[in-house]
Order: sequence, then C-alpha cells, then structure tokens
Amino acid sequence: MKRTKIKDILLSEQTDYAVTVKGWVRSFRNNQFIALNDGSTINNVQVVVSLDTDEAIVKRLTTGASISVDGMVVASLGKGQKVEIKAEKVEILGDCDTEKFPLQLKNRPSLEYLREIAHLRFRTSTFGAIFRVRHSLAYAVHKFFNDRGFVYLHTPIVTASDAEGAGEMFRVTTLSPDNPPKKEDGSVDYSEDFFGRCTNLTVSGQLEAELGAMAFSEVYTFGPTFRAENSNTARHLAEFWMIEPEVAFNDIYDNMDLAEDFIKYLISYAMEHNREDLEFLAQRLVDEEKQKPQAERSEMGLVEKLEFVLNNKFERITYTEAIDILLNSPAYKKKKFQYDVKWGIDLQSEHERYLVEKHFKKPVIVTGYPKDIKAFYMRMNEDGKTVAAMDILAPGIGEIVGGSQREERLDKLEQRMAEMHIPAEEMYWYLDTRRFGTVPHAGFGLGFERMVLFVTGMTNIRDVIPFPRTPKNAEF
Ligand code: 4AD
Ligand code: MG
Repeated sequence: MKRTKIKDILLSEQTDYAVTVKGWVRSFRNNQFIALNDGSTINNVQVVVSLDTDEAIVKRLTTGASISVDGMVVASLGKGQKVEIKAEKVEILGDCDTEKFPLQLKNRPSLEYLREIAHLRFRTSTFGAIFRVRHSLAYAVHKFFNDRGFVYLHTPIVTASDAEGAGEMFRVTTLSPDNPPKKEDGSVDYSEDFFGRCTNLTVSGQLEAELGAMAFSEVYTFGPTFRAENSNTARHLAEFWMIEPEVAFNDIYDNMDLAEDFIKYLISYAMEHNREDLEFLAQRLVDEEKQKPQAERSEMGLVEKLEFVLNNKFERITYTEAIDILLNSPAYKKKKFQYDVKWGIDLQSEHERYLVEKHFKKPVIVTGYPKDIKAFYMRMNEDGKTVAAMDILAPGIGEIVGGSQREERLDKLEQRMAEMHIPAEEMYWYLDTRRFGTVPHAGFGLGFERMVLFVTGMTNIRDVIPFPRTPKNAEF
C-alpha cells in the first residue's frame, strides 16, 4: 500500500481505515507501544503492536530503528492523541545498533553535543522543528517576492569582485598550493589559473542584483554567501544564506518599508504554517530559561515575542540619535559598555542590543551611518558625512538586515571608489549602470540564518543551518 504521512493521519483524525506508515522508532514501551516519527510533523503517531507479534521482531523495535507498519487507524484510548495505529504487520527496514546510537540517551542531549553529531540531530524533536521552520521561511521568501512581481536572479557564487570591500574572501583556485606559477616579481600568476584571474567565493550578490534591477525594476537573490571573517561568535557563519532584494526607483524610505513588510511576512507565514513546531520551540525556551537567573530571563515567550513584533511598527532612528541615546544611557554612565561610544564608531553588538532590548524593546531601523564605516556603494547624504544606509536590529539577534539606497550618481560613486581604493577599471560593468540610464535604487540583505534564529528562538547560529561552517570546522 502507498505510504501515508504521519502528519496527515494525525491531522485528519479520521478512524477505521487501513494505512501503511514508515518511519523511525522514537521509543518503544511495554513491548507494545511504538512512538513513530517520519519527520512530516513534530508529533509521533502511536503504533500499538499486537501481543502475538513474532518475538524476533519485537526485539528489534529499538529507538532509532526504521520500520514499515501496515495497520488500521483507530480511536485512541490513551491520553495525548485522538488516533493511533493498530498494527497488523510490522516490518523492520533497518536495525539500529542501540549500543552505539547516540540518541538513545534518556536525558535530553545538549545542543553542543548534538552539534558534534549534526548528521543525526535531524532526528530529534528540536532539530526537526527548527528545520521544518527553516524550510517554511525559505518557501515564504520566494512567495513574498513572487507575489509582488520580483524576478529571482541567480547571482554568481564564484566572482572576481569583493562586493563589500572588506577583504574577507575565500579564494577559488585550481593552481597548485605548493608550487603555483609565479610572475617575475615573485607574486602568483593568476593568469594561469582556471578563470585566468584571481577569483573567490562571493560575499554578496548585491552588485549583480543591481545590474538586474536596472532592467526588471525589482529583483531578488537568495543564495549562499561566504565570509572568511574570523569571528567565532554565536551570530557568524563562514557560509550563510542571504536574501537580497534590489529595487529600481526606491529610496531609503521605500527600502525600510519593504524590509519591515518582508520580515513581518516571514514571521506570520511561520506562525500560520508551523504552529506546532513553534509551540514546541517555545516550550524548549521556557525550559532553558529556567536554568538562568531570574534577572536574565526574557519577559516574553517565543510566540508572544513574534506576535509583538508583528503588531508593532519598527522604531526608526538615525545613527546620530542612536549615539545620543547610548551616551545618555545608564549603561554608559555606569561604564557597563566594553567598547567606547562616540560619533563615528561602528556600533558594537552590546550597543545594538542595548538599543533594541533595553531602550526600545522592539526592532529598530537605524539610518544615516557615517560614511567611513560603510561600503563604497551607499548613497552620500547632503551633509557629506553620512550615507543612506539602514541596518535593522532585532531583539536577541542584533543586526539582521543591512542595506542602503545606492549611489546612483556616477561622479559621486567614482569619487568614493577612488577614496576607498576600489579598482574602478575592473568594475566597469558596475559603473556602466550609472552611465546608461541610471536611476535611484535601493536594496538590502537579510541574513537568512539570523532570521531563522529569531523565529525559532534559538541562540546559536550553528543550530539553525544543517551543517555549519565556522573557523576550524567543516565537518560533514
Ligand atoms: O550587512 P551585510 O554585510 O550587507 C551586505 O552584504 C549587503 N551587500 C546587503 C545588500 O544591501 N544587498 O550583510 C547582510 C546581512 C547582515 O545584516 C546579517 O544578517 C547577515 O547578512 N550576515 C551574516 N550572517 C551570518 N554570518 C555572517 N558571517 C554574516 N555576515 C552578515
Ligand atoms: Mg552589515
């Protein structure tokens, strides 16, 4: 018989029909009750094994084993479920070596430990929930932009340019690391490399997205990006996914509206389609918070937090206002900040979190950053000191979005590139957009994993991407 998904059986609550289900045993009690999961839902279906089942089969019904069950869906007498499956035939598809199976433990394994067995952690309730939510969010990204007429543009992963100008790139080469061809001056001769030049993995698809926006008006990218920054934090990955919309004719205010609508849409999509997963993750958070001292516990549960963000407008302030708030804060006066605060600094995570978590208690959009701490492509403001940048800061996360209105004026852009030593000749293709029908335009990048962190309430970015890549770690 065709396999029925456990989710469908539990959702329909119908009874008295025959099914075949397949999945992995989560637990087996009293030689009779199997909790079976196939990943379609956080919930297990209870399979009741008849007492006259072959003893050899019963022995092999251990946590982790994969099985196929033919049986009848019947009303359940037990607590916690409306329906269960009365097994008629149980077949073992794959035994599980219980001695060695790491998820056999009775106690809930730690997230740190599960990171070491990331190839198996999908089979826990927590990671099942996280990655179903991640999937929904990815789907919602495409739905949001498709519904609004954006064109999905696939920007290159291998590139010769450094979009952010931060020099944090992974090199892509087929030259021998031990014995690369050299030029006369002793430097490596990349003209002999695969692409005939020095190439790297992209840090952002923005520059190419801008080229697309100059024809389609609105485009977005959604792809992997790579940064060789040596930040071993709970918010940084060396390989992460980014969504970058780019819209012709938008200014910085339109850009803020788009980003706020987008974030709210993603949250509401997950609330609607992943209710049970989110409730499970909310409970996980409650349990985790119990370990913390009272003062450090968050005031809101996960679902309340998401609802709160949906129902409130994001705060909008300028960088200059942000600095003033920080300078006047009790935290600053009591010297609680590790990093100094003064106009011109790059806001540190402690500053961002103060603004969002203590001062405004909601997401904040900060605009008008000093030009010297932002990328070359951002539009210069009238004051000649600040640029039309916008960062969105989220509670518990810090920066979740970085974006800007772009410098569409050729002379100003060339001047800025010269000041920042960006090689203009190599970027002729980017400058061409400003030569041939330039228009005001704006866009932003949403860090997908940071968004997943926010929605799932997880705290370490390594737990929301299936196989994290971080300094000194590329396992699996
Ligand atoms: O602020 P960033 O560097 O902006 C850009 O790359 C622009 N080109 C975007 C644009 O305007 N089209 O990165 C954008 C977002 C950040 O706000 C953050 O959420 C995420 O990407 N991000 C990271 N996420 C995980 N690990 C890292 N190492 C990240 N670096 C940035
Ligand atoms: Mg940024």
